[in-house]
Amino acid sequence: MSKKISIVGAGMTGSTAAHWLAERELADLVLVDIVEGMPQGKALDMLEAMPIVGKDVSIVGSNDYGPTEGSDIVVITAGLPRKPGMSRDDLLTTNADIVKKATEATLKLSPDAIYIILTNPLDSMCYVAMKTGGLPRERVIGQAGILDSARMRAFVAMETGVSVENINCYVLGGHGDSMVPLTRHSNIAGIPLDEFLPKDKLDAIVERTRTGGGEIVGLLKQGSAFYAPSAAIAQMAESILKDKNLVVPASVYLQGEYGLKDIFFGVPTQLGRKGLVNVYEYTLNAAEQAALEASAAEVAKTTAELKI
Ligand code: NAI
Ligand code: 2OP
Repeated sequence: MSKKISIVGAGMTGSTAAHWLAERELADLVLVDIVEGMPQGKALDMLEAMPIVGKDVSIVGSNDYGPTEGSDIVVITAGLPRKPGMSRDDLLTTNADIVKKATEATLKLSPDAIYIILTNPLDSMCYVAMKTGGLPRERVIGQAGILDSARMRAFVAMETGVSVENINCYVLGGHGDSMVPLTRHSNIAGIPLDEFLPKDKLDAIVERTRTGGGEIVGLLKQGSAFYAPSAAIAQMAESILKDKNLVVPASVYLQGEYGLKDIFFGVPTQLGRKGLVNVYEYTLNAAEQAALEASAAEVAKTTAELKI
């Protein structure tokens, strides 16, 4: 296959992303991790599944970066996951160092790659990757909004019994508990959610969405969510490699959109072959704009702690 996606961090999200990506037969895959034998073992196991699912995808595992050379997309999931009681921001400095090194090492071998970042705290880790690589904003995109919006869509489907395909939800803001589920812009088959559901039900869905990551951490006891986050990575990679121009919420570097500057923040983005094609700006009311600004203040505070 002529396209290559390298995934740094072959843990739960990295290897599950490879699984979803292989199913889509989008690109050859490389898994890199520091744990000896693990990326090689997972890659070989997945490769051996390809004849069964009928996909011609090369999957290679490695403890060094050599095989990542010439990647079209680099996904960074390397880092520590949240443990119960731990906030995403507790992971800040350790993961910043890991993301910095992964960006430097991959960029040397894949100078044109587009970066999809997953490592938490997500918005700040995107900032680390962009600054470390001296990359244009089009080439660094953080995965958070598809996941947060998918959680909200799933909760709405559970409440209403309507197909998830008819449910469109838009969660913007930082990937933390201050995220902003936009109930007025979210809809079921075109009917705004806040007209469809009574306020108490809608408030409960909004709250469950905001704390959705923690809910999974609490249930798993070890590690954090991986199926939904990695499905989101696959959707982003597909839109980029196929130049689909899908509009999805994702974390990108803002330059005045929504009145915000110099932070990575979750907004509706159009993703195509060059990475970020466009940021969509919704018309917000005062309460929605205030909620976004409060979320942005939290992201900016965390990112400032990195002193980069
Ligand atoms: P995991 O622990 O299963 O996998 C992380 C992998 O990174 C491990 O295999 C580890 O050996 C590897 N790693 C550590 N340092 C490395 C280095 N220097 N180079 C290469 N590999 C290295 O964790 P999981 O569940 O895959 O989560 C990964 C990260 O993604 C965490 O920071 C987590 O909080 C974050 N996350 C973010 C989400 C989002 O929506 N943005 C959703 C889910 C997880
Ligand atoms: C999540 O939202 C841990 O950020 C991760 O599941």
